[in-house]
Amino acid sequence: MNYKFPADFWWGSAISGPQTEGTVDGDGKGKSIWDHWYEESPELFFDQVGPGETSDVYNRYKEDIALMKQTGHNSLRTSIQWSRLIPDGSGEVNPEAVAFYNAYIDELIANDIEPFLNLYHFDMPLALQEKGGWESKEVVEAYVAYARKCFELFGDRVNKWFTNNEPIVPVEGGYLYKFHYPSIVDMKKAVQVAYHESLASAKAIQAYHEMNLGGQIGIVLNLTPSYPRDENDPEDVKAAKLADAFFNRSFLDPALRGEFPEDLVELLKELDYLPEYTAEELEIIKNNTVDLLGINYYQPRRIKKKESTERLSDKPMPDDYFDNYIWPERKMNPYRGWEIYEKGIYDCLINVRDNYGNIPCFISENGMGVEGEGRFINADGMIEDDYRIEFLKDHLSYVHKAIEEGCNVKGYHMWTCMDNWSWTNAYKNRYGFVSVDLDNNKKRTIKKSGHWFKEVADNNGF
Ligand code: BG6
Repeated sequence: MNYKFPADFWWGSAISGPQTEGTVDGDGKGKSIWDHWYEESPELFFDQVGPGETSDVYNRYKEDIALMKQTGHNSLRTSIQWSRLIPDGSGEVNPEAVAFYNAYIDELIANDIEPFLNLYHFDMPLALQEKGGWESKEVVEAYVAYARKCFELFGDRVNKWFTNNEPIVPVEGGYLYKFHYPSIVDMKKAVQVAYHESLASAKAIQAYHEMNLGGQIGIVLNLTPSYPRDENDPEDVKAAKLADAFFNRSFLDPALRGEFPEDLVELLKELDYLPEYTAEELEIIKNNTVDLLGINYYQPRRIKKKESTERLSDKPMPDDYFDNYIWPERKMNPYRGWEIYEKGIYDCLINVRDNYGNIPCFISENGMGVEGEGRFINADGMIEDDYRIEFLKDHLSYVHKAIEEGCNVKGYHMWTCMDNWSWTNAYKNRYGFVSVDLDNNKKRTIKKSGHWFKEVADNNGF
C-alpha cells in the first residue's frame, strides 16, 4: 500500500524552549518554575538531572538545524521561553534573548524550515508564579502583554503561532496529581487555572488578529480519546463522556467553539467549583477562537463506571467519577509503559471533522518514548529504532485514512527532533530522530528513524 500525502504537507517535529535551550541562568534569563523546583527538590527529577542539562540548543542551534534538515524537516515547532524573553515575566525585555530568537528563526528560514512558535510550554516565570501563576488574573494580563511583544518582535517572519501547549497538563500536574509545580491537590484552584488559560489564549488570539500580521494562530491540545469499557452499558458510556469533558472538551470547546462544555459546567456548579469569571471575559472567549488546531496524540483513555471505593484525595477529584480500565486487547509500548493505539489518532481527527467544523489541524506531537534506548546502538554508533519506524508507519497510515475521509489535516510533527530533557522524567524516555549522548559532550547522531523520515518527507509519503 502506498500512502501519498497532500502537497505542502508539513513534515517535522516539535520541541520546546525549556526542554532544549539550556543556559538556564545565562545571558539574562530569569527563573522559571522548573529552575526553581529543581533547586528546591532535585530528588524529584530522574537521576537528579535538572533543566540546566538540556541539549544546549542555545549554543548549538546551527548544528541542530542542520540535523533537522537532514531528517526531512520542512517545519519545526518550538516555544519561546517567557522567562528568557522577559526575565521576571512582566518587566523589561532581555535584548540577548531577542538576539537569540532572531538568529534561531532566521537560521530555520534560511534552511527552508518554517518556524512554528508556541508561547507557553509549562514554563511559568517564577516571579509570576509567586503572584499566583495561572490562578491570578494579573498573570493573564502579563501573558497577553508577553504574547503581544512576541508578535511584535517575530511576527514579521513567523506565520504560525500557538498560544499554549497542552494547557490541561499544568492543571493536572500542578493542581491535581502533583507532577508539576506547585504540586498541590485542589480541584477548585485547578478549575480557575484552566479557565484562566483559556481566557489568556483567547486574549492572545484577539491581540494577534488585531495586529493584522497575516499568519495563523492556534493552540496545541493533547487529546486522549476516551473509550468506554462497554458501549452498551450507559454508565460506562456516561463515565467515558465525563472523562472526555474533563480532559479533552474542557479546552477543545472554548478554543474551537468559544464555549465550555455544558456537562462539565453543570458538574462544577453542583460542586460549587465554577471559576471566578465575568460576562465580558466569556464574550472574549466566545469571539476569539483558533484558526488552527495542533493535536498531540500519544495514548487513549479506557474508562469504566466508578466501581472502586478508592479516592485519590479527600477533596473532589475528576477520578471520583470514573475508573480507568485495562482493555484486554491493548498493545503496550514495551519500552515506556504506555498503550499504543494507532486508531486513536484517526478518532481524534474524525472528532474535529464532525464536531468542530473541520477546522485546519495537524498532528503536532506523536511519538514513542523508549527507556534505555542505548541498547539498540549498532557498531557504527547509530540507534536502530525499527520499532519507532513501525510506530510512525502505523500512525501515519491512520492520518492518511483520515485525510482520505475528508479531515482537514495539514501536517505531521513527531515528538521529537532530538532526544531531550523532559521535566521530572529528564532523559529517562528517549523520543528523538537524533540521539544525544550524555556521556560524550551531548554528541548528536541521526537514528535509523531519522533517515527513514527524510525519505518519507522527500517523497511526501511512504
Ligand atoms: C508531551 C509534552 O506530552 O510529552 C512534552 O508536550 C514531553 O513536553 C513529552 O516531553 C514526553 O513526556 P515523557 O514524560 O514521556 O518524557
